[in-house]
Amino acid sequence: MFLWGTATASYQIEGAVSEDGRGVSIWDTFSHEPGKVRDGHTGDVACDHYHRWPEDVALMADAGLNAYRFSVAWPRIQPTGRGEVNQAGLDFYDRLVDGLCEKGITPALTLFHWDLPQALEDEGGWLNRDTSGYFADYAAIVAERLSDRVKMWITLNEPIVHMTFGYAMGVHAPGRTLLLDALPVAHHQLLGHGLATAALRANGAEQVLITNNCTPVWPASDDPADLAAAAAYDTMHNRLFNDPLFVGSYPDFSAFGVENLDFIHDGDLATIAQPLDGLGINYYNPTRISAPSTDLLPFDDAGITGYPTTAFGWPVVPDGLRELLVSLKERYGTALPPVYITENGCSYDGIEDQERIDYLDGHIKAIRRAQAEGVDVRGYFIWSLLDNFEWAEGYHQRFGLVHVDFETQKRTPKASYHWLRQLIAE
Ligand code: NOJ
Repeated sequence: MFLWGTATASYQIEGAVSEDGRGVSIWDTFSHEPGKVRDGHTGDVACDHYHRWPEDVALMADAGLNAYRFSVAWPRIQPTGRGEVNQAGLDFYDRLVDGLCEKGITPALTLFHWDLPQALEDEGGWLNRDTSGYFADYAAIVAERLSDRVKMWITLNEPIVHMTFGYAMGVHAPGRTLLLDALPVAHHQLLGHGLATAALRANGAEQVLITNNCTPVWPASDDPADLAAAAAYDTMHNRLFNDPLFVGSYPDFSAFGVENLDFIHDGDLATIAQPLDGLGINYYNPTRISAPSTDLLPFDDAGITGYPTTAFGWPVVPDGLRELLVSLKERYGTALPPVYITENGCSYDGIEDQERIDYLDGHIKAIRRAQAEGVDVRGYFIWSLLDNFEWAEGYHQRFGLVHVDFETQKRTPKASYHWLRQLIAE
């Protein structure tokens, strides 16, 4: 059965940040620091999904969706990231999962979508190797409670974005600006993924995936300097997180001049490279890369022109999704597991969102073309069900099929929601 779903993440929709024993996450801390999020927005209330989830599940069911990707907030389960378990936090997800199953909606559960318990960040966060082990402990706790009903488990969401925005550039929590010294964050997340994969399977999980943000990389020209820069960007953004999983080794990092790789221990790659039941891909747009103009990084983002853009300014290139899927298949061959598009979507204002309809229609057709070229794609999750807290952009970028009035919490299905319902019905 092809999965048609929407995707959300805990900090972006739940609110209720101090309820039922939830601990503090790095996003609570970061969003309350002046100047970090546009207009000082925070996820304190967000979509109030913690209280309104039955209405949100009903919206999914009414659209005919048969799957839902959501994330669990680690600090609801373990307020300090390790040790004692907060049963009330588990109870919330237990009720949500029951509600989904009652409506015939397959849950796809992401364990980490960036809201690390602050107490772990205070000990170094993902720069600290111990976090990988704590993550596996947490995975085991959640699986033990929910794996009788949740079959599909996603360990991490977009580890590249968490590393670059959170630890290298400081525009996301935890707000660190380590540039290339953030590299251990990649490895410790991947190690956490590997350890969690084993812990999940030991606790009854049937399908284990990871979700990577991937992008087709377009060199700005045929100039060898641009080609080399594009290869470096591809290494950093795509291969850093896919090669260890599907080849069992890291790509060549020489272009980055990173010398100290001591954080990689013997045996780590074997832990990371366990076979998976699927690869989650988040696709938004291709990236055009030119030779570097500074010596900070071995590439520059040259920007894409000549395509329509979303309200966020992101280029709309549906065929980039086909290109990406086919290139993954070419690169990893039979090592590539079945693919699920775990996020794809766009930010536009308004309820009559014809642009979103065109965007989704284009990308669904691109998936069909990729399937026709032999890529095994088994699901499509739209980002997102609801307008929500778009990280550093606060509530300014609206990705939902359903409009949310953040004053009243009123949900209003947009034209794209009705269009999707029709499409699924057909
Ligand atoms: C990817 C992230 O996983 C999600 O949290 C975010 O809201 C969307 N991209 C849109 O930027």
